[in-house]
This record gives sequence, structure tokens and C-alpha cells, in this order.
Amino acid sequence: MDIIRQVNEMMRWVREQRASGEEIGVVPTMGYLHEGHLSLCRLSSADGGRTVVTVFVNPTQFGAGEDLARYPRDEERDLKMLRELGISAVFLPTPEEMYPPDYVTYVETGGPSQGWCGATRPTHFRGVTTVISQMFHILQPNRAYFGQKDAQQVAVLKQMVRDLKFPIQVIVGEIVREPDGLAMSSRNTYLTAEDRKAALVLFRALQLGRDLYKQGEHSGERLTKAMLRVTAAEPHVRPDYIGVVNRRCFRAVEEVSPEDLLIGAIYVGSCRLIDNLDVSPQVYPLRD
Ligand code: PAJ
Repeated sequence: MDIIRQVNEMMRWVREQRASGEEIGVVPTMGYLHEGHLSLCRLSSADGGRTVVTVFVNPTQFGAGEDLARYPRDEERDLKMLRELGISAVFLPTPEEMYPPDYVTYVETGGPSQGWCGATRPTHFRGVTTVISQMFHILQPNRAYFGQKDAQQVAVLKQMVRDLKFPIQVIVGEIVREPDGLAMSSRNTYLTAEDRKAALVLFRALQLGRDLYKQGEHSGERLTKAMLRVTAAEPHVRPDYIGVVNRRCFRAVEEVSPEDLLIGAIYVGSCRLIDNLDVSPQVYPLRD
């Protein structure tokens, strides 16, 4: 496994692979890897060619006062996990490599970046599109793998790939959950035992939304209210948002259809967690 920290060196590696006819799949991450990340690596490996994993805690997607400084990092552990998976290369640039002191260019977002996480974290998605554009230019992948866990990020990045004509197939991997249903996240390490129990209320709320839809409740507003009642009954958490959206444009839907998405974000202790669930399971192919 090649471990590469410099942009120039990474570009040289990509040129060599391309010259020998290899296709490239990329799995962008911020490290502190868990099964969610590894499932994306396995998807990429199964598609053949070379898999490059990027590990970079991207400062531009964190707002002032957010958790950039304390975001969990463990490079050695990450590299060990990736070695066991047979990854071809890991790209671990420094912040100065990606954003030299004179850096000024950003990829502006609109459409699906508005509302929800975009309302709470106004500069977040612009940081994501900016760093992913850089990664796409450096790595020139045929395929890029992202998790459905961050559903709004998927909508924003698919929009960017369409708008900016990146010749890259975006492949989405299913949400990997703990046995009790909590969506895996590097940020789960912030949770105390008590927080951890309370955090499950978000998944329970989304599941109730799905059950009610199945029973015939198709009003987005009423489903949202019912899900909010579930989170309100857990005093240890504070909802950021709960809603039902169209998965492509991320607008709230009035009349819910099976391919829509139940979404939510909550604050638990010092931590903000997000999750989502298909209104109706398995109607929407993740690989489109
Ligand atoms: P990070 O939170 O490290 O996640 C990296 C990738 O793993 C993302 O595509 C995310 O959706 C996916 N992922 C995280 N938890 C998952 C889970 N439980 N199941 C399935 N997939 C999961 O998302 C980012 O980093 C950054 O915003 C990034 C895209 C790397 C840009 O900086």
C-alpha cells in the first residue's frame, strides 16, 4: 500500500496507474475509520482497478466553533485497517498541501445544499464541494464512493458532478449501523454511555416515520410531527431538524412517495448526529 502525503507525488502515482491502463476508484474520508468507511472501500475493491482512500480532516467544511480541533484522528489505526483491506494507496495531505496560505478558490453550492444541514452549518457544503473537487482533480478517478449516511452530501456532490461535468461515476453505499441501529460515525466516540443510549431516539423516530407511511400516512407534515414527538420524549437530546425530503433536490415534500427520504439531526451532549431512512425500503437503487 502506497502512503502518499504530497499532491505532486499523488498526481505522479495517478499518471503511472493510468499509463498502465488501470481504472481508479476513490473513497474520500476524514479518517478515524469504521465499518461504514470500510464498506465503501470494499465496494470499490469489488469494482476492480485501483482503490485510493483519502484521509483528510478538511478544515473548510467546519464552521467556527465546530469540532475541527477535537475531531478524532488515529493515522496508525487507519493505515492498519486499510492495509488489511488491500487498498492500493492512501492519500494523507496536510492542510497546507490542500490550502496553501494564498488559497482563495471555493466551489459554491445551491439547490440541495440549502436547508437542513445547510441551514445549521451554512459553510459546510461549500467546504465539501471544494475539497472533493480538489481530490477529483488530483486523483482523476473513474468512480467515487460516498455513504448514504450523509444523504444531503450525496445530493450536493451528485449535483456538483453533473453541473461541473466531472467524468466520474458517483456510487453510493448503504448506511452501516451498530447492532442496535445507531448509524456508525467517527463522532460516536464523543458519546458517553448515557448519550449513546439517548442517541438511538433518532433512529427510532425515523423508523416510526417509515411505519406510519406503511400504514397509509402520506402527509409529510404529519409524518414530521409524529417523528418530532418521538425525539421530544427523550429529554437528553435536542432535535436540530426532522423532515421528509425528495432525495435529489432535498426539498421538503408535502405528499410523500416511496422514494423519498426521512431525515434527522439531533444534538446529544456535545455532539451533533445525523441519520436518514428510506420511506420505503429498497425502492431506490443506490447505484444509478
Ligand atoms: P467522513 O465523515 O469520514 O465519511 C467518509 C465517507 O464515509 C462519506 O461518504 C460518508 O457518507 C461515509 N460514511 C460515514 N459513516 C457511514 C456509515 N455509517 N455507513 C455508510 N457510510 C458512511 O463525509 C466525509 O467524511 C467528508 O465530508 C468528506 C466527503 C470526506 C469530504 O471531506
